[in-house]
Amino acid sequence: MKPKVYVAKPIPREAEAYIARHCEVRKWESPAPIPRSVLLGELADVDGLLTSGTRIDRELLDHAPRLKVVSNVSVGYNNFDIAAMKERGVVGTNTPHVLDETVADLVMGMMLAAARRIPELDRMVKEGRWRPGDDSHLFGTDVHHASLGIIGMGRIGEAIARRARFGFQMEVQYYNRSRKPEAEDKLGVRWAKLETLLAESDFVVVMVPLTGDTQHLIGRKELALMKPNAFLINASRGQTVDEQALIEALRNGTIRGAALDVYEKEPVDPDNPLLSMDNVVTLPHIGSATAKTRFDMAMLAARNLVAALTGGTAANVVKELLP
Ligand code: 8YV
Repeated sequence: MKPKVYVAKPIPREAEAYIARHCEVRKWESPAPIPRSVLLGELADVDGLLTSGTRIDRELLDHAPRLKVVSNVSVGYNNFDIAAMKERGVVGTNTPHVLDETVADLVMGMMLAAARRIPELDRMVKEGRWRPGDDSHLFGTDVHHASLGIIGMGRIGEAIARRARFGFQMEVQYYNRSRKPEAEDKLGVRWAKLETLLAESDFVVVMVPLTGDTQHLIGRKELALMKPNAFLINASRGQTVDEQALIEALRNGTIRGAALDVYEKEPVDPDNPLLSMDNVVTLPHIGSATAKTRFDMAMLAARNLVAALTGGTAANVVKELLP
């Protein structure tokens, strides 16, 4: 008998067809997120769940007595309650590698957008506020040859460093729990203590996974260490930055500006003060959002799900849940 799976978000038909060749599939078809109560009602007989961001906790697992694997269509897996999944012997997989370059491209775009005030000046032109004459009020900040600090030197961090070093001749420091000697040799980047990185960087990129240790990794103290002409770029998870502290730092001129793809609450509230600041670039969590990359992520998530359920090599099991 084929394993039963529930696909809790729309995925490309090729990915669904791959799963259907090996499993019995039920699915949520709306582009709107599946309501939690609906999802919980679908899990009583399923062996596998494909999702993005759904909280996998004891409540959900109590509704899924047969569940063996949860396949995330994302590289982040902070939605996994690791302890609860371990207790029930449920495997969790994610989709690393396929999105690294796409996210790194976006981070460089965010850096340029914040530094050269692209969204703000685009609005000025489109709203007919462009005036001839002295344009010193339109000046931005150079990115080329500036100093970049990358907090979190994983695969995406390295892809960012490669662009910064060889594309923009930037000086790059990184802060990581473990040293990356190969990246240091290959990319010419230097490890630095977090405090040093924050104090010396013109641009600070946050690219750490969200864990208990990285929750509010960047708070009031860390922002105060940054240079007043520095920019904070966050494309990791919103909760890695204390958003209230960031709002204060931007209001007080502690830092020059920010570019954000993630927020403590998503979608971000319309009355969030960040949305009314010209020196803040705001994007809707689009780090991996290109057609090819999202297709590759969905295909990888489908393969991870099927492999875990059909006795194949369970690929991309998150390290905390490896057998
Ligand atoms: C995902 C992400 O696209 O991969 C991640 O961890 O945050 C994004 O790349 C997003 O989670 C929606 O699936």
